[in-house]
Amino acid sequence: MALRNLRYEGDEILRKKSREVPLVDDRIRMLMDDMVETMYRYDGVGLAAPQVGILKRVIVIDVEDGKVYKMANPKIINESGEQSAQEGCLSVPEKKGIVSRPMKVIVEYTDENNETVKLEAEGLLARAICHEIDHLNGVLFIDRVTDDVIEE
Ligand code: NI
Repeated sequence: MALRNLRYEGDEILRKKSREVPLVDDRIRMLMDDMVETMYRYDGVGLAAPQVGILKRVIVIDVEDGKVYKMANPKIINESGEQSAQEGCLSVPEKKGIVSRPMKVIVEYTDENNETVKLEAEGLLARAICHEIDHLNGVLFIDRVTDDVIEE
């Protein structure tokens, strides 16, 4: 595995829409593993491929629920409820803000073995999935902050 360079707010790649991954092959698995290593290195709970300069629909998440999620083509097929909490982002290191997200989501994705998985997630995991999928569509959490963006 290898660390990848993070992209930061202001880099136009973060505002582009990522492309679907037709097949999770060794190249994508390597990207996923590199993203996990990079996420841990910077103490993040999630990372999306555009944050390392790759416009592919790949995200990784570890919210310390005992599992590392590696997802290609994640798609929310159902959402319910609402939660509001402070968010940050490795690509927007100096800012925080309150963002409203669904409390529960059902997400469908392709896993590292190229198998389709349907996952029910709630709380922090649901929040992280929504945040990372936003990255795949060029959206940053600061676009969704309901109150003021806090500069640190
Ligand atoms: Ni982020």
